[in-house]
Amino acid sequence: MISGRGSNLQALIAACAAEALPAKISLVISSHEEAPGLRIATAARIPTAVIPHRDRGAFAAVAKALLCDKRVEFVCLAGFMRLLDANFVEAWRDRMINIHPSLLPSFRGLHAQRQALAAGVRFAGCTVHFVRPELDSGPIIGQAVVPVHPGDDENRLSARILEVEHRLYPYVLRLIAEGRVRVVAERVEVAGVWVPDMAILNPQDILGDRLASFRG
Ligand code: GRF
Repeated sequence: MISGRGSNLQALIAACAAEALPAKISLVISSHEEAPGLRIATAARIPTAVIPHRDRGAFAAVAKALLCDKRVEFVCLAGFMRLLDANFVEAWRDRMINIHPSLLPSFRGLHAQRQALAAGVRFAGCTVHFVRPELDSGPIIGQAVVPVHPGDDENRLSARILEVEHRLYPYVLRLIAEGRVRVVAERVEVAGVWVPDMAILNPQDILGDRLASFRG
């Protein structure tokens, strides 16, 4: 389900086409008639539907019927900019995920990248999580991190995050499609993965590093 540009949708379509993702996208629902992502879906021959989001309950009823009709098993929110009806969210519990451009639980809601810059954090990133009724909340499945550069503005930081979004979303969805992800007491366990044990510093001290190399 989308509301706009559709670049994450594009990443999922590409992953399915490359067989990097054992899934089939059966339907793209947009809350906006004008969403550019609809053209991306049409170009990939994926059926589309527009459900104007005037009323939460009405949206949920139409979406439910369409998803049922297409025998959809799993829902991905990819730039879907509306809060969903709580009953709808419950009906799709642990079968609906979202991508958000921050390291949740920091910076929920709109303009997450702007919020990160305002807070002066050294790292930003994105999160894929199961959806719960509260905005941008729910068990976290995966995150990708990027450094904040000095002089970053919202556009530059957003572009850096978007690049890793396009890697993270298909990757997480593949883990789910392979049956390796489960929610236990509102935390996510992923089978058969390795977690890197590395320290990443930002900023990195080039003066200190130079002194260290002088010392041999
Ligand atoms: C992405 O930054 C996503 O994290 C957020 O909305 C944006 C959607 O971009 N939820 P796109 O429509 O996938 O290009």
